[in-house]
Parts: sequence; C-alpha cells; structure tokens
Amino acid sequence: MHSHRIAVIPGDGIGVEVCGATRAVLDAVGRRHAIALTYDEFDWSCARYLAEGAMMPANGLDLIRHHDAIFLGAVGGPGVPDHVSLWGLLIPIRRGFQQFVNLRPIRGLDGRQAIDLVVVRENVEGEYSEIGGRLYQGTPAEMAVQESVFTRPGVTRIVDYALDLAERRGGRLTSATKSNGIIHTMPFWDEIVAERVAERPAVTLRSEHIDALCAKLVLDPAQFDVIVASNLFGDILSDLAAAVAGSIGLAPAANIDPTHAYPSMFEPVHGSAPDIAGRGIANPVGAIWTATMMLDHLGHPEASANLMAAIESVFTTTDVRTPDLGGKAGTEDMTRAIIEAL
Ligand code: NAD
Ligand code: IPM
Ligand code: MN
Repeated sequence: MHSHRIAVIPGDGIGVEVCGATRAVLDAVGRRHAIALTYDEFDWSCARYLAEGAMMPANGLDLIRHHDAIFLGAVGGPGVPDHVSLWGLLIPIRRGFQQFVNLRPIRGLDGRQAIDLVVVRENVEGEYSEIGGRLYQGTPAEMAVQESVFTRPGVTRIVDYALDLAERRGGRLTSATKSNGIIHTMPFWDEIVAERVAERPAVTLRSEHIDALCAKLVLDPAQFDVIVASNLFGDILSDLAAAVAGSIGLAPAANIDPTHAYPSMFEPVHGSAPDIAGRGIANPVGAIWTATMMLDHLGHPEASANLMAAIESVFTTTDVRTPDLGGKAGTEDMTRAIIEAL
C-alpha cells in the first residue's frame, strides 16, 4: 500500500464542488490500486478573507510544504477583488514553491475535435509581476505602470522543459511570441528559444505571434502539439484551446516544480465560476483529469491511465454530459458515471 498526504484547498464557488467530486473519484481509484490518499483540507478562500482579513494564514506555505501534493479547486468570489484573492493565495503558492511549469494538456474527449496539444506555460514570472505602480492618482495625468520580468534562467528552464516534452511527443514545438510589438521581452524570449532549440536536432520549431496563433488554433488546432508560452500568453491560450476542445470545464492543469524541492499543485484550468456556483452543474472533468496528472506525479502511472480511460469511456460510450457541453447531467451524475466506468 502506497500512501500520500494531499493538501486540499477547495477555495470558492465551483472549486468546492469539483474538489468534492474529485475526492470521490480518487477514493475509488485508491481502492482499486492500493493507494491510500489522506487529505488535509484547508478553508483558504474568499469567505476566510471576509471573516479574517487574509486568504490564508501568514504561515500558510509552511502548513502545506511537506505534503506530497496540493490539490486546489478555484479561488475568487464576490466581495473580494480578484487581484487580492489570487495574489493572496494561488500566486504565492506557485511562486513560493517554484512551480515554474504550468502544464495544460488539451484533447477532445469524444473524438469529434481534432485537437491534442499541451500548453507549457511559464508560471512564475513574465507579465505577472508586482513591479510597477499607480501614479498621479486623482489627477488627469493618472497612470498605471506594470513591468514584465523575463529572466534568462526563467525562460531557459521553461523552454528546456517544453523541448523535453516535444521530444517525447514527436518533435513539434510552437513558441508563442509577440516580438513585432513587444520589443524588449519578446525578442529576448525568441533568442533564448532559438539557442535552446539549436541543441535539439529532433525538434522542429515554429514561432508564431500570439494573435495569429490564436486564430490558427481555432481554425485548425491539429497543426499544434507542444506550445511554449509566457505566463499571460499561456493563460489565454489554455482557455482558448480548452474551448476549442469543447469547454473550459474540461481542462486540467499541473503547477509543477520539476526539481521536486517543493510540492507541486494540481488544479483545473477554470475558475470559481460564480455564474453557476451552488447549482450542482459544474463540469468536474477538468478537476478529475487534473487528478490523473497528480497520480502520475505521485508515481502511479497505471492508476492514472485507468482513471483517464474511465473519463474517456464516459465520453465515447455514454451521453452523460454537463450543461457546458450541451447536456443535462449534474456534477454528481458525471462523477458517478466516471466511477462506474473505472
Ligand atoms: P471562470 O473559469 O470561473 O468562468 C468562465 C466561464 O466558464 C463561466 O461562464 C463559467 O460558468 C464557465 N465555467 C468555468 N468552469 C466551468 C465548469 N467546470 N463547468 C461548467 N462551466 C464552467 O472564469 P472567470 O469568470 O474569469 O473567473 C471567475 C472567478 O474565478 C474570478 O474570481 C477569477 O479570478 C477566478 N479564477 C480563478 C482561477 C483559479 O483559482 N485557478 C482560475 C481562473 C479564474
Ligand atoms: C489560471 C487563472 C489565474 C492565472 C488567475 C486567476 C490569476 O486564470 O490559473 O489560469 O492567470 O494564472
Ligand atoms: Mn486562466
């Protein structure tokens, strides 16, 4: 029996609903594969912020530092500005634990969408920075400045990670850029990509401006396999590609520290979806697919493959679909179907 301790942060809105669904599925997988997962649940959320003035305790990272993995639902709720809730919880975990890879596979599950790609998103620097500020507030000259930060080691390690993945997946790498308009950071990104690719004869590189890439991805997603992108571009591309595959409710994500110095964090791509929260209709597939990535990371490829096959079989052999995919099934119906398919 293998055992692992997972820190669970359900968060807000449908984050709580999809976490509950995922735990039910993981319990069933654990029974089949002799994996004992124990969960420590943390109530870090906007509700906590409104009651106590902080999304998580000051020593929050220390409380989850020694867990084998972190599973997070989604963060963000009414009454707390989004930049306050996200910079109070999600982003400090990604940065504090050096989870510099955000891995986001996107695939059509019912065989009707010709899309099968992985977005490798830089996860700790780039356009998401605290450097900048507001000036001349209350005057007509009021302004806001937000700096982007691209470091040589930061870009190099994400590009190398994407190259490793591209080599394993057949050798096609696309780099998302915008070096025609963003004249300092993006040419620097391109230069490092070119240097690193030069050492990988098995990989063919394609560089695409982010705007054109978005259009091509919608029109003909089969052209793309591994896409490496900066923090913001990777964020946008992953929702776009997930929608091409059917719904952002399907998309999984893993925030990985490949050095294993810190725990990695697993969370679906989507947010807390306040517009549907509390109605029992959230699609749990993104979160459950995310759990397959966590099982892989914990060293259980068979259990992971078994769960992925169960998810796929629901899409190929049943018509159980949540409303985001045009169906009438609730979160619990979809969860039950996946457990039955295991
Ligand atoms: P969102 O992903 O929450 O929702 C966008 C749209 O997709 C909504 O119409 C929603 O109903 C739908 N949707 C999302 N997930 C779904 C699912 N599993 N099943 C069915 N439909 C689903 O994005 P948003 O509206 O931009 O953000 C809402 C809140 O979530 C904000 O506070 C935002 O900051 C936060 N957010 C958090 C995370 C995270 O914690 N990782 C990610 C994205 C957004
Ligand atoms: C995501 C989310 C977050 C991000 C937000 C909520 C800060 O959109 O995980 O994709 O941009 O990283
Ligand atoms: Mn996003």
